[in-house]
Amino acid sequence: MSNEPVIAIAGVTGAVGAEFIATMDRRKFPVGKLKALASARSAGKTLDFRGQGIVVEGLNERSFDGVDIALFSAGGSIARKFAPVAVKAGAVVVDNSSAFRMDPEVPLVIPEINARRIREHKGIIANPNCAAITALVPLWPIHRTNRIKRLIIASYQAASGAGAAAMAELVDSTRAHLDGEPFQPKVMPHPYAFNLFSHNTPVDPETGYNDEETKVIRETRKIFEDEQIAIGVTCVRVPVLRAHCEAITFECERPISEAEVREILSSASGVRIVDDRANNYFPMPVDASGQDDVLVGRIRRDLSDASGHSIAMFVAADQLLKGAALNAIQIAELLPERAMA
Ligand SMILES: NC(=O)c1ccc[n+]([C@@H]2O[C@H](COP(=O)([O-])OP(=O)(O)OC[C@H]3O[C@@H](n4cnc5c(N)ncnc54)[C@H](OP(=O)(O)O)[C@@H]3O)[C@@H](O)[C@H]2O)c1
Repeated sequence: MSNEPVIAIAGVTGAVGAEFIATMDRRKFPVGKLKALASARSAGKTLDFRGQGIVVEGLNERSFDGVDIALFSAGGSIARKFAPVAVKAGAVVVDNSSAFRMDPEVPLVIPEINARRIREHKGIIANPNCAAITALVPLWPIHRTNRIKRLIIASYQAASGAGAAAMAELVDSTRAHLDGEPFQPKVMPHPYAFNLFSHNTPVDPETGYNDEETKVIRETRKIFEDEQIAIGVTCVRVPVLRAHCEAITFECERPISEAEVREILSSASGVRIVDDRANNYFPMPVDASGQDDVLVGRIRRDLSDASGHSIAMFVAADQLLKGAALNAIQIAELLPERAMA
């Protein structure tokens, strides 16, 4: 791979695709050539990249010829079809969808946690679910110090997690609501303005858990390499444009104090403590938006556990960045193929 690799972005016109471009720019990621790929609907549109107009191409079987790194954010079915095509053409794929995450042959990577897994890739590296990344970045340094044996998460997930069309639907339905106009949702299953609802992924009729919750459970175990960790999750979509929040309660094997958690998190990479009790100022989506770090606050003892093993906290993170584009670019920066260039 050359020092200035040829990069393809599959899904370049989407919410994550736009952040791929902005993040590569911000981090001065070296790019020899950029191939901008999307559906046939977007073919011919022009995007700006480092002052150059790049014409969007419709994704096809030849799109990855000559490509070194292919960043995918075009959904699971596109990834299943085209990631193997990209690998066959010689590219390393970093995929944002859930298509390959639980494949034992595919590393599932959050660089702050398991960057060492990147070198084991066989062509595809998976980016974890955004709700999982948001929780796991701050939980990992705690888990490493004092194993978390039980974890309970309630999420407050933004529209941007469901893509550009969901963000537009939140804006349009809010405007319609304020104008007293009727609004028929097309992207989300329920009215989104001044409402919230259980996550819009299918619900397993046996367990009652939706797909998002199941992803968080399975991916946590894979990334932490700890199949025994007990996890309960409730995922909810809230009428926020961008950045997910989560209320997290965890129980450790040994007693743990609020001060210890603060101490651990104060030097944790990818984490910023926002925990101002005097001013009632804690992590919020507006503050997390556009930020690389996961904001962590409301760090306090879980009073339901008298043994002193449990802590509660509240986090916020820009899931288009750390939950998607930034995490993927961080992975691309660490590819062993680039180091060999
Ligand atoms: N949003 C997030 O926070 C987030 C976080 C983690 C992972 N992800 C994952 O990232 C992926 C994209 O998410 P997003 O939020 O960016 O969605 P989005 O805003 O809806 O964008 C989807 C992108 O995929 C492209 N696409 C759709 N059908 C295609 C086709 N048949 N061939 C080629 N390209 C096609 C779209 O191109 P057109 O514009 O031409 O339709 C668009 O560029 C999904 O797998 C999602 O699960 C998203």
